[in-house]
Amino acid sequence: MKSVLFVCLGNICRSPLAEGILRYKAEELELKVKIDSAGTESYHVGEHPDKRSIQVAEKNGINISRLIARRFTREDFRSFDCILVVDSQVYREVINLADNEEERRKVDFIMNFLNPDSNQIVPDPYYGGIDGFEKIFVMLDKACDAIISQIQS
Ligand code: 4NP
Repeated sequence: MKSVLFVCLGNICRSPLAEGILRYKAEELELKVKIDSAGTESYHVGEHPDKRSIQVAEKNGINISRLIARRFTREDFRSFDCILVVDSQVYREVINLADNEEERRKVDFIMNFLNPDSNQIVPDPYYGGIDGFEKIFVMLDKACDAIISQIQS
């Protein structure tokens, strides 16, 4: 695995956090891997991550404050060999943009790296409190450890 794209809805809460966590771990281990994130919706394009995601990342020594939201595009199927989504809605939207089986095979749930075939979702924390962001940080941190193991194998 040489490139990973994380995808959520707005690209301001969940996927930028996953991007920051995986990049931090990859840099620590000096692993060469391309990492990015995107959203299926356009309402936050051009914005920095949600303050609460920035805050939870910062508490864990990770700076995601300079990331900028962008929308997922068909080109991403060519640019990345692994496209990891947060939930079923995002899965459907990404799969609907795929042109062929090879592209569809690149798409999986982030949490399946930790719990294979579970299709467990990373819950949308946007309308809740900071505790929801703390919770998804823990989930994404564990999933990223599993992704790192896969990259190393
Ligand atoms: P994300 O969270 O998909 O994890 O970035 C959301 C951000 C914004 C909205 C929904 C989810 N929104 O409805 O604006």
